[in-house]
Amino acid sequence: MRVAVVVFSLAGSLITVAAISDRPQQFGDSLPGLTKKQITDFQDGLGDFNEVETVADGLGPVFNGRSCAECHSVPVTGGGSARTVTRFGTTTNGAFDAMAFVGGSLIQDHAIGPDDASGIHQFTAESVPGAATIIAHRRTTPLFGLGLVDAVPDADFAALAAEEAARNDGTAGKVSMVTDLVHGGTAVGKFGWKAQNPNLLQFAADAYLNEMGITSPLFPIENCPSGNCGDLAYNPRPDLNDLGDGPASLANFMTMLDVPPRGKTSSDTVAGEKVFNSLGCASCHVATLNTGNSELAVLRHRPFHPYSDFLLHDMGALGDGISQGVATGTEMRTAPLWGLRMVTTFLHDGRTTTIEGAILAHDGQGRAARDRFASLDGKSKSKLLAFLNSL
Ligand code: HEC
Ligand code: HEC
Repeated sequence: MRVAVVVFSLAGSLITVAAISDRPQQFGDSLPGLTKKQITDFQDGLGDFNEVETVADGLGPVFNGRSCAECHSVPVTGGGSARTVTRFGTTTNGAFDAMAFVGGSLIQDHAIGPDDASGIHQFTAESVPGAATIIAHRRTTPLFGLGLVDAVPDADFAALAAEEAARNDGTAGKVSMVTDLVHGGTAVGKFGWKAQNPNLLQFAADAYLNEMGITSPLFPIENCPSGNCGDLAYNPRPDLNDLGDGPASLANFMTMLDVPPRGKTSSDTVAGEKVFNSLGCASCHVATLNTGNSELAVLRHRPFHPYSDFLLHDMGALGDGISQGVATGTEMRTAPLWGLRMVTTFLHDGRTTTIEGAILAHDGQGRAARDRFASLDGKSKSKLLAFLNSL
């Protein structure tokens, strides 16, 4: 049973009625059981997530997209997509160098100019500088259910890492401790391919700046186009672009976006999950986590099924070569597998269009499971794939 919202106009005033319907859960729904006020916040946040930003809103000078939804769109707003962004760097004295002096490590491949608003300076979009020796592409990840991930206590990730280490089978994950700009101090990073971000509000403000060029209180400093800070003299919106309402509203949307609905299950998918467990996939792709306490009643103390531990693992040759926070070049966050049936290009750089290709690319701590997968008999393999395609 799902709660549907019916909005109609009566004598000029908007009335929102929560009605019970039997419509099955769909991608893009809000969490069931929200209050009317929370449903309004979710819908306002969805509106902001879809909103195409302009120079007047603070877009640019350099940016990657004009709305969050431009990249996060498959199969509906809030999903992922095959769109990738580019990072680069080099190695200096044996250590990763993000080359900030030329605008690294993240590229902003668009720039504002007179076409966006008359009379403004034409800024130059960034490209990978010739001196870069490391170039990595990162695919847009889906955002379904991330409010639950955000509500898992930090101590649970530490406990999970300790459990994995105690197993002593070469698959132990590492907790990504990162700066928490929202609460101060450090916290467990669980968002992004490198687990580089600790909460959805911080990610929203980070993406607002780094994907769209919109500054806000958590990220108040504009990116210098290709490292040329002098160019900022021409910035048409040098003031703080957003006072914090934008990221808060985007975070509301993401926090209350429901988990991906599970696909059809059958005796094959049930048998396939057993194969998944027997190969050791579940060492990293952990089926069930639990939320802790939360401001939102619907997020409190709930089990959910992301098929990830959200920890960093040394993936050997599958790593993207970029150091970020405590993640080294070879370390990547276990990709959650819920909603996998909607993904079309797999792994951090979208290098393969098949699930089998994604599994075969596992290296480092994932190598042993990959080898066990490679030597599976045909029947077990097809059951495993049926299971993965039901997520
Ligand atoms: C140009 C495309 C693009 C735009 C625009 C964009 N994103 Fe993303 N998003 C990405 C990519 C690529 C990643 C993975 C980045 C990484 O981990 O380095 C990502 C990751 C995320 C994540 C982490 C999800 C996870 O799996 O942990 C969140 C949250 C997010 N984006 C929110 C937003 C919000 C909010 C906006 C708008 C302010 C936005 N994004 C705009 C491409 C985009
Ligand atoms: C040591 C931890 C570990 C083990 C064991 C492991 N994985 Fe992964 N898996 C990862 C990480 C980390 C990623 C993300 C890697 C990247 O893209 O750079 C990933 C990515 C994936 C993806 C791609 C998801 C996407 O959205 O692109 C699939 C599918 C997958 N794993 C399936 C499996 C299966 C099936 C097994 C067992 C045969 C397995 N994994 C074993 C850590 C692991």
